[in-house]
Amino acid sequence: MVKKFHLTLNVNGEQKELLIDPRRSLLDVLRNDLELRGAHRGCDSGDCGACTVILNGKAITSCMTLAADCDGDSVITVEGITPADGLHPVQKSLVEDGGIQCGFCTTGMVMAAIALLDSIPHPTEEDVREGLAGNLCRCTGYKKIVEAVMNVERK
Ligand code: FES
Ligand code: FES
Repeated sequence: MVKKFHLTLNVNGEQKELLIDPRRSLLDVLRNDLELRGAHRGCDSGDCGACTVILNGKAITSCMTLAADCDGDSVITVEGITPADGLHPVQKSLVEDGGIQCGFCTTGMVMAAIALLDSIPHPTEEDVREGLAGNLCRCTGYKKIVEAVMNVERK
């Protein structure tokens, strides 16, 4: 039997203490233990970006991250950036500029865009394309998504 790991995690500003199997992914713990289902399980292999969350200020694929490796870390999920009475500026811009995609891929794109804008407040088109390169959607050409992210700061 695998010895349980005592995990301390700050999630969306709240301190969480959990006893977990050390082999589990951060995505699994967020969705199943903490009931934060905004990060989605798409490929479960690091390819699609649907599970993107912000770990210590950086966008990461939570399906490829062991929860135990995040002990003492800070995680922001889409639930943590969305105000109760509205939308985050990135979400708003995606809606206004027609960049909103399906519920499955959008949350990952939002989190990747927020992490990008935190490090590059005025990104070029190339910066945005690079920042969202890990977030796949086969239903779009990405043009409106990229424009929406570039427009966040101008609104
Ligand atoms: S579910 Fe994590 S990258 Fe696809
Ligand atoms: S995967 Fe979400 S719109 Fe294509």
